Amino acid sequence: MKPLAVVTGASAGIGAATARALAAAGFDLVLGARRTEKLASVAEPLGARALPLDVRDPASIARFADAVPRLDLLVNNAGLALGSERIGDSVDEKWTTMYETNVLGVQRMTRAFLPKLLASQRAHVVVVGSTSGFEVYPGGAGYTASKHAVRAVVRTLRLELLGQPVRVTEISPGLVETEFATVRHGGDRDKAKAVYQGMTPLAAEDVAECVVFAVTRPPHVDIDEIVVRPRDQASSTAVFRRS
Ligand SMILES: NC(=O)c1ccc[n+]([C@@H]2O[C@H](COP(=O)([O-])OP(=O)(O)OC[C@H]3O[C@@H](n4cnc5c(N)ncnc54)[C@H](OP(=O)(O)O)[C@@H]3O)[C@@H](O)[C@H]2O)c1
Repeated sequence: MKPLAVVTGASAGIGAATARALAAAGFDLVLGARRTEKLASVAEPLGARALPLDVRDPASIARFADAVPRLDLLVNNAGLALGSERIGDSVDEKWTTMYETNVLGVQRMTRAFLPKLLASQRAHVVVVGSTSGFEVYPGGAGYTASKHAVRAVVRTLRLELLGQPVRVTEISPGLVETEFATVRHGGDRDKAKAVYQGMTPLAAEDVAECVVFAVTRPPHVDIDEIVVRPRDQASSTAVFRRS
């Protein structure tokens, strides 16, 4: 029987690329996201199941988990940034959405699937964090606070599962060209484009390859963390741009 993986936020970007890369690496897949049409278009060519999932909604997580009888790999990828206001102008609703998606979403999905993962005897939890999990920048506090928080969750999980047959990995990317910047800037494509202006960002596939590397190591090897950035980016604030 092939190992079974769940990928959250698989309707676009890193999640969709990870689904394709895991399918090529021999995984069966259940994919979750809110935009079910987009999700189905990712799942269909892979022979994957596509199920509606809103990681902010505990009832949606419960329905999703009930529909997946066994699990070997959980990729907690669903996430987002909203806005770039400084703390003085911060918007509560945006911070709440980021925290509920990026932190509580990972907590609730992991809790829902932990019994099935423990039963698998060869399980793995991957969390797509960010370099924003350990760096900060002006205008980024809502997002960086959520990614710092989820990093604490991942590190705690690693400690709590010590001695159990479950590996835990955080993948921390820098700038990746996906729908992320468009979502962050409320659909403003010009603002989104400016994020990658004059530099070569990572592609979603670059991050997917990191996920596949981590999950295809021998079972005694735990890749605790992979930090992957564009060559043109040395930190959240140090980005080389050609004029
Ligand atoms: N792009 C970057 O520069 C970058 C850098 C570092 C880390 N990351 C992280 O990488 C992850 C993936 O982002 P991406 O770059 O691939 O962005 P993306 O292209 O915008 O994709 C985000 C995915 O998350 C899903 N999602 C958002 N809210 C959700 C919810 N409440 N329930 C279920 N799914 C939800 C979206 O699906 P639906 O809208 O269909 O639900 C979508 O599939 C995120 O955790 C992000 O923080 C991105």
